[in-house]
Amino acid sequence: MTERAGWQRTHTCGALRASDEGSQVVLNGWVAARRDHGGIYFLDLRDRYGVTQVVLAEEVAGDLKLAPEDVLCVRGTVRKREERNINPNRETGEVELVAESVEMLSGSKLPPFEIIDDLDTGVELRLKHRFLDLRRAPLQQNLVHRSRFINAMRRAFEAQDFVEVETPILTKATPEGARDYLVPSRVHPGEFYALPQSPQIFKQLLMVSGLDRYFQVARCFRDEDLRADRQPEFTQLDMEMSFVEEEDVFASWEQVLIDTFKDSMGYDVPTPIPRMPYKEAMERFGIDKPDLRFEMELVALDDWARASDFQVFSGAVEAGGRVMGLTVKEGGSLSRKEITALEDVVKTYGAKGLAFWKPALDGGAGPLARFVPEGGAQELMELLGATEGDLCLFVADPRERVVQRSLGELRVHLGKQLGLTEPSEFRFLWVTHFPLFEWDDEAGRWFSTHHPFTAPADWELGGGGFDLSDPDSPIGDQMSRSYDLVMNGWELGSGSVRIHRADVQQRVFEVLGIGEEEQRQKFGFLLDALSYGAPPHAGFAVGLDRLVALTLGMDNIRDVIAFPKTASATDLMCDAPSTVEAYQLEDVHIDVSARAKAALEEAQSSPEASS
Ligand code: AMO
Ligand code: AMP
Repeated sequence: MTERAGWQRTHTCGALRASDEGSQVVLNGWVAARRDHGGIYFLDLRDRYGVTQVVLAEEVAGDLKLAPEDVLCVRGTVRKREERNINPNRETGEVELVAESVEMLSGSKLPPFEIIDDLDTGVELRLKHRFLDLRRAPLQQNLVHRSRFINAMRRAFEAQDFVEVETPILTKATPEGARDYLVPSRVHPGEFYALPQSPQIFKQLLMVSGLDRYFQVARCFRDEDLRADRQPEFTQLDMEMSFVEEEDVFASWEQVLIDTFKDSMGYDVPTPIPRMPYKEAMERFGIDKPDLRFEMELVALDDWARASDFQVFSGAVEAGGRVMGLTVKEGGSLSRKEITALEDVVKTYGAKGLAFWKPALDGGAGPLARFVPEGGAQELMELLGATEGDLCLFVADPRERVVQRSLGELRVHLGKQLGLTEPSEFRFLWVTHFPLFEWDDEAGRWFSTHHPFTAPADWELGGGGFDLSDPDSPIGDQMSRSYDLVMNGWELGSGSVRIHRADVQQRVFEVLGIGEEEQRQKFGFLLDALSYGAPPHAGFAVGLDRLVALTLGMDNIRDVIAFPKTASATDLMCDAPSTVEAYQLEDVHIDVSARAKAALEEAQSSPEASS
């Protein structure tokens, strides 16, 4: 063991207990608080492990000026506190350290915000001084939890004989639906690497190589619009297996989740995790990532609506659309104003309105009441699973997607508003049987619902002959072998059985509008690999930031990432992205466009330009 230097701690700031009374100890830590009691200072000394109260007499302090966040070495004797001074909220609350000497290891300027647990300071200031923000116990605990969780997951994969392989960061684009971050090459003028959106192609190649079971804690980069659950760089627990089908991937993950939650949090994940086809999820919950912690399912009312006198309802069904409802148990007491606020929610998802009904056998109340036929209330109440005192809400629209989505999002909104979601409960779900392709109106072409390497449920893909420029083409009915893992209303991960036949892969590229030449240029190596004995394989990737945030009951992944970026993908602390020297641009053969230069000048002269 190395010898301890005189200033080095014998204990952490979270270690001392009543049983240490009388011990001579040395603590190192930050000044969290200082109280002046005429001739005596009470200091709170903080480190990652806790806070210890230090009693510092004026004569011991000498002419040392102590300020918050100074780093000290304090030597002294542990003393039990008097009964009335015990702090039951602190693990070290029964003792204090009577200082015999104190030494400044490092001074601190006045910090821009207080280092306290429940800080109420703007997020920008905190991100700019992230190193100080991370000094706060809640954020430190998040990072510690993240580390334990990921390590438990690693052990769980190793226990199943998976091999961790690192795949390249400087690579070629992998299409996952977002834009690529590009890195210019110095050696090859005019050529670029792309940062990986995921290790997708590499992990498939590892299967072709015979690695059989691969996993990686993989950093991924996606230039996309950011939200609370998205960062431009994030971490996946990525895996792939050979000679397997869907159920093998599910079984493997279920064991990993059982082990990881048990090991890192003592939580028993209930298994088997239920499965639900995409279509059923949309019909019952209106979205493909249902929160199963509460009921309140959507109810199809198309037949009832078709016969109704309410033109908005019957008209929607006649136009090939849908009418669906939602019953809020004991929601009858919601005010008109509260219901209007719910209408605003569905309108943001394209619904034209939100009809409501306060059900009762005598016909009930609300705008829909006059369209409930004489004596027909009971039938409608049964359809909706409603009783008196509930509130029934309805959306009608010629577009099924709008009806399902708006009511699905309303359900999520109500779950939060009515406190139906218990944060410490984790309800997992496999969503399966997604469509293979989705039509994008704006681009006027088909996109992969998951990604282009996902196997179609039917290898033959209808044989061909489809009009690929037609959104109503039966290509839209093709099902895929992809699946999502959903928890508490969040998409945690996605995966699929992959295409392991070059001809099928080429056919999918063709549907996506990727011609033969482009296929060779972008994916030639993959097509080659598929023609040298590719085993049937399947895999999956979980967003670790999301999973870790959710296990802590948080809904912003920023809080579990040490150095996150803002919504505009900037790092406020190191001021990235930033301009570079002219010679660096020259080295990598880049000319900044006139438009970019103008934008830069404007940004630099604007009043908010960062200092
Ligand atoms: P997918 O694109 O669905 O699948 O990504 C898998 C999971 O990664 C997380 N995720 C993100 N987390 C934070 N910020 C982001 N910008 C972000 N984007 C995605 C989500 C998502 O469910 N290669 C496939 C997986 C496979 O098929 O094996 C893939 O990347 O939790
Ligand atoms: P209106 O006839 O527009 O006054 O609407 C009567 C009621 O029906 C109001 O409560 C509207 O919010 C509701 N409503 C209107 N359009 C729709 C729709 N497409 N789906 C469900 N409710 C609607």
